Amino acid sequence: MEYRRLGKAGVQVSALSLGSWVTFGQQISDEVAAELMTTAYDSGVNFFDNAEAYASGKSEQVMGNILRKKGWAHDTFLVSSKVFWGGALPNQTGLSRKHVLEACHAALRRLQVDYLDLYFCHRPDPNTPIEETVRAMSDLVTQGKVLYWGTSEWSAQEITQAHGVARELGLVPPTMEQPMYHLLGRHRFEKEYARLYTEYGMGTTIWSPLASGLLTGKHKAGPAEGTRATLKDYTWLKEQLANDAKRNAEKIAGLEKIAKDLGLSMAVFAIAWCLKNPHVSTVILGASKVGQLTENLQALEAQAKLSPDVMKTVDELVGI
Ligand SMILES: NC(=O)c1ccc[n+]([C@@H]2O[C@H](COP(=O)([O-])OP(=O)(O)OC[C@H]3O[C@@H](n4cnc5c(N)ncnc54)[C@H](OP(=O)(O)O)[C@@H]3O)[C@@H](O)[C@H]2O)c1
Repeated sequence: MEYRRLGKAGVQVSALSLGSWVTFGQQISDEVAAELMTTAYDSGVNFFDNAEAYASGKSEQVMGNILRKKGWAHDTFLVSSKVFWGGALPNQTGLSRKHVLEACHAALRRLQVDYLDLYFCHRPDPNTPIEETVRAMSDLVTQGKVLYWGTSEWSAQEITQAHGVARELGLVPPTMEQPMYHLLGRHRFEKEYARLYTEYGMGTTIWSPLASGLLTGKHKAGPAEGTRATLKDYTWLKEQLANDAKRNAEKIAGLEKIAKDLGLSMAVFAIAWCLKNPHVSTVILGASKVGQLTENLQALEAQAKLSPDVMKTVDELVGI
């Protein structure tokens, strides 16, 4: 395993980590979830990603039970939660002080840990003053309930504002962002955020490196059966995958050829491509089968095959 600093923070995250969206508490059994975490941990993965929204809290329960049963010492892993989508009532959602603190306490209980290593504001909340949210997150860090706080899918402007507020009020600023980043979704990560990496030493935990499976090539002829695209509660994703497959057909075919010429599966190639970006602290993998995870872990070694020439060919094909 390769370990990277989370931006300018001293803590080190494995370059590949494991997330639980769609899968834990929903698509897969608790046994498969345990096998995935064990395979990851045994391969040197030290970060497991979660959120209050995932399977309405069940994903954190499943992960918490596995962490307890495994008995891994907390200094051997990092676990995260994210706050924003908690429930249907007004104070069960958003980034008010009340919800930020209550969601953290609930995540600690479900995950059965004394502190969250990483805690993210899952989305920006236009209904809460940013000072209130920054203070709530900063207080959690001061209380030792959270080690590092960050944002997910906040604009560069919103992140800049959060840093400004923290500086002005003497609060703890955000350490990291959790943005989407993959071969077909590059703009925000590479362009909009460009100055934040040097200005704030922002770390990143990037999500959906395979664009929900699109970048494995398996949804080429339309959403494939037996995947997340055909789950009952994910018709929106099915439609999205169908549209994206059609819109990007040429690019996907081109990427498939590049991967094949390098002797790599398209999934391994796509993940290795993400790893090549030095501003990526960790690529969060998703997997519904252990075989997918073991395949994807090969991306670490595959990085060596992505020469400057290969990266240039990819740029010409997909653009930014
Ligand atoms: N902050 C946010 O807003 C946000 C949003 C989304 C995700 N995330 C985090 O990022 C993590 C990863 O996102 P993601 O799950 O969307 O990642 P992804 O890599 O884009 O998709 C993972 C899915 O692709 C399929 N797959 C994976 N490897 C494969 C392989 N080798 N061959 C064929 N199919 C393969 C599996 O789904 P099938 O069952 O369909 O085969 C798997 O569950 C999440 O678990 C979550 O922790 C964060």
